[in-house]
Amino acid sequence: MSDPFACAGDVRLKPGREASVVRRHPWVYRGALAGPVPGSMGPVRVVAAGGRPLGIGLPGGSGRSLALRMLAFGEEPWDAATLRGRLLAAARLRERLGLEADAFRLVHAEGDDLPGLVIDRYSTTAVCQVFERAWEPFLPLISDVLGGDLGLAGVLVRSGDTTGEAPAALRGSVPDGEVVVREEPLRFPVDLVRGQKTGFFLDQRENRRRVATVARGARLLNLFSYSGGFAVAALVGGAERALNVDASEAALALARRAYELNALPVRDADFVVGDAFRVARALVAAEERFDFVVVDPPAFVKRKSDIGAGLRGYKDINLHAIQLVRSGGLLLTCSCSALVDELQFGRVLADAAADARRRLSVLERRGAGPDHPVSVQCPESTHLKAWLCTVN
Ligand SMILES: C[S@@+](CC[C@H](N)C(=O)[O-])C[C@H]1O[C@@H](n2cnc3c(N)ncnc32)[C@H](O)[C@@H]1O
Repeated sequence: MSDPFACAGDVRLKPGREASVVRRHPWVYRGALAGPVPGSMGPVRVVAAGGRPLGIGLPGGSGRSLALRMLAFGEEPWDAATLRGRLLAAARLRERLGLEADAFRLVHAEGDDLPGLVIDRYSTTAVCQVFERAWEPFLPLISDVLGGDLGLAGVLVRSGDTTGEAPAALRGSVPDGEVVVREEPLRFPVDLVRGQKTGFFLDQRENRRRVATVARGARLLNLFSYSGGFAVAALVGGAERALNVDASEAALALARRAYELNALPVRDADFVVGDAFRVARALVAAEERFDFVVVDPPAFVKRKSDIGAGLRGYKDINLHAIQLVRSGGLLLTCSCSALVDELQFGRVLADAAADARRRLSVLERRGAGPDHPVSVQCPESTHLKAWLCTVN
């Protein structure tokens, strides 16, 4: 088998285009390259126009404009020991964080110096997700570290695009039923085969915990509920009732199961399969009010061209959500679009509040938990905004 670490050749940058790489920004855009990327999938040496070595890059293909993701900078090595060292460092970091959960993000791509690679841990199974096909030749070594050094029983791989493709087992076998994970004191069922993302929205763990602390006695509306994480956290935290809305029947089946696992009563009326926009509009028309509304839609802006329609989507759903919060109640509103920054998100909320003729105040600007580190050199890779607000 060929050595996956062997460099396929050199890529030269255009004059004056090396500054961001020198500052350790992990992304190199096609427009910065003086010539084509050699080879097919192997790493390449990246050099400045004058010949100065800038590091080792992995060819990209996922984003139309992203040409390389930097694996090493300057003269740093990119070899099996480096890859193993970074995986183990990522695992040690999670141990130190005291997450009180057996499901967490073990490797967060750019934030763990492994750009384009995500590894989520669900109890004794790891699920790898590669956002560049060029990671594939490294998977056997990654699987050895996860199974050997970290002692995980199963290692699965899903492609970056999780629409439909079943995961493959690199170690152990693909589970044919649910895996139950704990986020103390909660339990959640995870479908590692058909579930969304790698199976669960691990990035919302600390926000679920926060919701539990402010939900006592509340009637909660959980829009875009997936497997009911926010509702379960709120109910275990003392909420009176929660209504879950999601377009996916499979997601709501998982939500019911999550209620069972946490000894919560399962009432059919609390699980509505439907379009959250329509359901929210109907609730507004029926003059319903809730003490707490959670809005956690899928990413409406996946590429730059989505921005106009995506921002309108965020405004619409937040307008309905704000209308549904009783005066003095709470709103947790989220956006997982990395291409929508805090400033834009704030403007959308201001527009929605103005249209609803309500006062909206942000109490906490929250995001993903600490198992999702973000490199300061690459703030564009920040994805989740989860703002806890009060509505008057
Ligand atoms: C970001 S996830 C929600 C994660 C969830 N809050 C959690 O903590 O696990 C977005 C969810 O929106 C659902 N969805 C997508 N479009 C929808 C729509 N138009 N109406 C209702 N749900 C939708 C998806 O099925 C998915 O479960």
